[in-house]
Amino acid sequence: MISEQRIFQAYYTKSEPIVSYMVDLLDLNGTETIFEPCAGDGVFLDSILSKYETVKVDAFELNLSAYNKLKNKYSDLENVSIKQTDTLTDLDLEFLCSMGGKYDAVIANPPYGAWRNTEDKASLKRRFNGFYAKESYSLFLYRSIEALNEGGKLVFIIPDTYLNLNMHKDIRKYILTNTKIKEISLFPSSYFPGVNFGYANLSIIALEKCSNYSSNLNNSFNIYKGFKSVEELGKNELQHLTKLNFKQENVLNNDGHIFLTSKNQNVSDTIRKAKLTIGDICDCATGFYSGNDKDRLKVLSKSIRNSKRYEEVDKTKITYDCSSRPLNGIETEKVYVPIVKGGNVKYFKADNWFMEWSKEIVDFYKKDKKARYQNSSYYFRKGIAVPMVSSSSITGAIIENRLFDQSIVGIFPKNEELIYYLLAFFNSPTCNKLIRTINPSTNNSSNYIKKIPFLEPTPEQERIITENIKQIIEQVKLSGNYDSDLENENNKLINELYGF
Ligand SMILES: C[S@@+](CC[C@H](N)C(=O)[O-])C[C@H]1O[C@@H](n2cnc3c(N)ncnc32)[C@H](O)[C@@H]1O
Repeated sequence: MISEQRIFQAYYTKSEPIVSYMVDLLDLNGTETIFEPCAGDGVFLDSILSKYETVKVDAFELNLSAYNKLKNKYSDLENVSIKQTDTLTDLDLEFLCSMGGKYDAVIANPPYGAWRNTEDKASLKRRFNGFYAKESYSLFLYRSIEALNEGGKLVFIIPDTYLNLNMHKDIRKYILTNTKIKEISLFPSSYFPGVNFGYANLSIIALEKCSNYSSNLNNSFNIYKGFKSVEELGKNELQHLTKLNFKQENVLNNDGHIFLTSKNQNVSDTIRKAKLTIGDICDCATGFYSGNDKDRLKVLSKSIRNSKRYEEVDKTKITYDCSSRPLNGIETEKVYVPIVKGGNVKYFKADNWFMEWSKEIVDFYKKDKKARYQNSSYYFRKGIAVPMVSSSSITGAIIENRLFDQSIVGIFPKNEELIYYLLAFFNSPTCNKLIRTINPSTNNSSNYIKKIPFLEPTPEQERIITENIKQIIEQVKLSGNYDSDLENENNKLINELYGF
């Protein structure tokens, strides 16, 4: 059963500092017509009406019982109108938007990732010009900007993923070209009572609708972060806050229109100015999935982490040397091949996992609906395995004569000689700063990895790093450990090359 709270994403803004910061950002004078697209129990309305009795308010709420409570609460107020409706599909609102909008202000804490069925998603996608329909908050944002009149103001509290994720590219472009951003504050989701989604931070964005394209591109605004507590929101003069100034034109010109919110300007500049990226010099591909790992994936021994669900492999049936690249399966008895799985291990992963790879089963993988026999031209080649998710820093381990699974992005340099240098790079703090600026969440999917700038090392840098890495790999193979001086020297050289 999905709870009502989950369906409606009814997490109310029970935080006085957040509510008053957001209402202050609207900078009201009492004459405005205001829209609240997902009113909940009316926290924003209460705050606004207590200061500005004379404003006019239209509030929408989908959930019948929340709607009834609102109706009751504001029954004495003629200037407050409540409607039970789905804001995303409401036809009156859609019509009003098509006429250019009418509201002087919109304020909202819209549902994040609200639950919708697939049919709904497809129709929303059509309705919203192909905008990404799985994550509802961006649709609320789009519709609400449309609903503003020229010069109208909007304040939203939403996850910060619209600043960087590829799927939100269109909404970034829309905001950058149709509005003037006033300010954005970034803070941990734990500031929001009852919510703590580890995957992203929250943001409060304030903007003003404007139809003048060139004046929008000329507009500059600040992003604030580094708050020590929720009470500091809006206290932008505090010394310890990080204040990053952006011109909308520069953000629009970034690849994917991403907001580069690294504290270190050097990192952002390197990404912005990159002549070559990892995507230019490497092929990046996600790996294989059997469709049923429980039956087809085997583990070397039960002492391996997270191996409870899997059987031990019959060690007499392993083909360790896959240099012949058996893409169509193995015809001998030795039907198990090593596979590299996710999990953050630097430089070299021991062969702990094995995939069933007989000719018959590979034929099956190729046809099975659940299996993913994808990017097979990279199977068993020499490359670098980067786990798709990294809890702390990004890591890379060498893959050679092995399969890699779908939790891995396999990176295959076009010039194979660069592989050792790149292995050091993917394990370096420099690379971590770059990827976390490109995408601040823990996700390293290939679209983001491809955007990492590549600066060519000097022959001397490449030589030293390659020698160090070869030693590190040997040491890891023998003992599971390596001499950290070698790694430090590599990191230092890469730091000198990039300047951070
Ligand atoms: C995250 S809550 C926020 C409520 C309130 N604005 C606040 O900050 O406390 C989102 C609200 O939107 C409502 N809602 C969800 N989907 C909606 C939709 N499609 N149209 C209108 N309201 C919706 C939910 O019922 C919930 O009350």
